Amino acid sequence: MNVIVIGSGAREHALCRLIGRSYLCEKLYCFPGNYGISQIAECKNISDTQDIIKECQKIKPDLVVIGPEDYLSKNLAGELRNLNISVFGPNNEGANLESSKEFMKEFCKSHDIPTAKSNTFLDFDSAKDYLEKNHGPIVVKYDGLAAGKGVFVCKDSEEAIAACSKIFIEKIFNKIDNKIIIEELLEGKELSYFTITDGNDYLNFGSAQDYKRIGDNDTGPNTGGMGTVSPAPILNEDLEQRIQTQIVLKTINGLKRDDIEFQGVLFFGIMVDQDNNPFLLEYNTRFGDPEIQSISLRLKSDFLSTLHATATKNLGYANIKFVSNKKSICLILATRGYPDDYPKNTIIDNLNNFENTEDFYIFHAATKLENNKVLSTGGRVLSIVSLNESYSKCRETVYEIANKIEWENKYFRRDIGSNL
Ligand code: AMP
Ligand code: GLY
Repeated sequence: MNVIVIGSGAREHALCRLIGRSYLCEKLYCFPGNYGISQIAECKNISDTQDIIKECQKIKPDLVVIGPEDYLSKNLAGELRNLNISVFGPNNEGANLESSKEFMKEFCKSHDIPTAKSNTFLDFDSAKDYLEKNHGPIVVKYDGLAAGKGVFVCKDSEEAIAACSKIFIEKIFNKIDNKIIIEELLEGKELSYFTITDGNDYLNFGSAQDYKRIGDNDTGPNTGGMGTVSPAPILNEDLEQRIQTQIVLKTINGLKRDDIEFQGVLFFGIMVDQDNNPFLLEYNTRFGDPEIQSISLRLKSDFLSTLHATATKNLGYANIKFVSNKKSICLILATRGYPDDYPKNTIIDNLNNFENTEDFYIFHAATKLENNKVLSTGGRVLSIVSLNESYSKCRETVYEIANKIEWENKYFRRDIGSNL
């Protein structure tokens, strides 16, 4: 098969590694990709949606796999399907589960999926009115895609009013018409859970725990994710059963009932309360970054055949297997300063000294090669992943390598997978 992966991060590097090693893969492209990806796929510097469509018409791939959510919400998958190209990733209607919090909330209400109680507001005054009558901790969410920056977990209504002001008055998301959701704050432990579906059949694709804050012990601002452990340590049999019946099955049946086609992955962000009850925090309609980096090393079955079966609605014939009794940890190396301002084009000296193996891999999120030097080009730059029989052994490996990488501007959390 000829396959095109769309995207340029460490998630897409992990997807390319899994696809490229499949016995079914003849030729692998990544648009636009990055330096790390270019070592295992042919990268083309194409990122505009219409340019991607034109290139796909030329290459006529057997499968296109879309990594990032913004392409899905712009209906890249739908446009490619209209050209009879098989795609892994939902049309914009299915992607709405992620790109509109209001849509997600309505969907949960209508299909009886447990989630925090919420209200929608279209202007600052009515949100402020509501918050003045409802004190205590509360969560304010911008309705649209915001690259992980649209959620404000507030300790009181004063903080929540300030968040509303940022969205409605300062217009930090650059939209003329803003919409927000205000919802109750849920307490508990979080996990990321994945299910691949062709709209009819579905297969579970594992779990992970994401460390979202920039600082050790979950301090400082939220980021895209500073590390993951997989499987999620809190996932036991009872919890998985509850997630399956109360969230996964109801979502798949809900999509069918609402006539929403969906060929791709559902990524459930879940809060688990102290009685082991799962509540859906959010849907994502693509693989998690950095979740997939850690999950990918545990996968034993052929990934490309699963993706292709999904895109062609043959998932009933596919299977997914993970290595038994092994854990994995992904540690993110970011440029110091992230998620605020940080320097670009800093030199990473010895990156090519580390050899990737079956149970160790360095995925690139933002690198380029210039004059024979590897340069950082973004905030989150590398994902170091280790697979081993215990979380603590994985920790030893990822931290050993993180310390050895010679890069003056590197920053990483010290507590990924600690206490496990
Ligand atoms: P979301 O993008 O909706 O997953 O939100 C990002 C992060 O905000 C989540 O991973 C949670 O840590 C936090 N969060 C979102 N909604 C809630 C909620 N209702 N209660 C507590 N924390 C939340
Ligand atoms: N790691 C969270 C996400 O991919 O949205």
